[in-house]
Amino acid sequence: MIFVIGATLTAVVVPTACWMWMSRMRPVDRMCVKAEILCKTGLQRFFTKRPDLCTVKVSNGSEIILPDAMKHSPEEILKFKIRPDDVIVATYSKAGTTWMQEIVWLICNGADTKTAKATRLLDRFGFLDLPQFPGVGNGLQALENWPKDKKRFVKTHMPVELLPYDLQEAPKGKMICVVRNPKDNCVSLYHFFRMNMIFPHPGPWDQFFVDFCQGNIQLGSWFDHVYGYWKLFQERKGSVYFVTFETLKKDLKGEVTKIARFLEEDLSDEQIDTIAQHCTFSSMSKNKCTNYSECGEAGVMNFNVSKFMRKGEVGDWKNHFTINQNQAFDELYAKRTKDWTLEFEFEPSE
Ligand code: A3P
Repeated sequence: MIFVIGATLTAVVVPTACWMWMSRMRPVDRMCVKAEILCKTGLQRFFTKRPDLCTVKVSNGSEIILPDAMKHSPEEILKFKIRPDDVIVATYSKAGTTWMQEIVWLICNGADTKTAKATRLLDRFGFLDLPQFPGVGNGLQALENWPKDKKRFVKTHMPVELLPYDLQEAPKGKMICVVRNPKDNCVSLYHFFRMNMIFPHPGPWDQFFVDFCQGNIQLGSWFDHVYGYWKLFQERKGSVYFVTFETLKKDLKGEVTKIARFLEEDLSDEQIDTIAQHCTFSSMSKNKCTNYSECGEAGVMNFNVSKFMRKGEVGDWKNHFTINQNQAFDELYAKRTKDWTLEFEFEPSE
């Protein structure tokens, strides 16, 4: 009898109490508890097989943290040859790369939204950092084999010191850098690592927050990465365009116009309007050529965990950062950016 009562309590009361406790939490704290249970018990290994990260020492003296499968990429990237009419989109991961890729491609292709809706962005824009990947292919090889008579579009997340020597030595092609306020960048990255099977699981949010602050994650420190590109922009204003995610959000049409001018593409007002409409979050998140749904189908990304095009907002960090985390981050930010002339917006514009 005692055994039956005990078993009933364990089977019904404990899970119900846990469920009630968890349902009162903020969604991110709930996620945190789930991730903690999965990581601490080692259960996540049964759900997903994920690679490890490693610190790669590169022959030019730099170091970078990458997934195991990408550890040979930096050496190959350094040797990559840039063509004079290449367009390069360079970002820290989750800063709005896909958004800028689509904008740039359309600007350089006369606002041809028909082709853009029929051909996945992965096939229109080469990903320099990518070795062989399931469902995606080999980005570096695709770029090397790119037809000589066709304009080449290059995406990279590499820090400035690991860009191809060809680019480090002198300005070549045109480069567009997108940066995003670090709080939203951190949150977006967290969800991306949760859903993307080619990266290690980020663990609970609280742990990831510390890793992000310390630069102990793939691609290393946000501060170093962004500052590297900001400096490059200061030195090469004619060949580098620099824009924030928040500015794109505030004035998409205005930015499309400026980027077209930078790329020396003559577009009509109507074409600019077409691009701006095609590149809104609501349009790009429904478009299977930009929303990475194919990677979900190929099992590389788990869309049940999070979407690739998740929210596309400024200020979502408020749903994740605790008061203490926010205070700690503000102190770190003030310290690390005290000599910067670059400023970020952390609040959505009216
Ligand atoms: P969230 O996770 O905050 O939603 P990247 O392309 O560098 O991986 O960046 C992905 C982030 O950019 C995601 O942020 C995604 O939703 C956002 N994004 C992509 N296209 C966008 C658009 N057209 N408008 C606003 N945000 C966009």
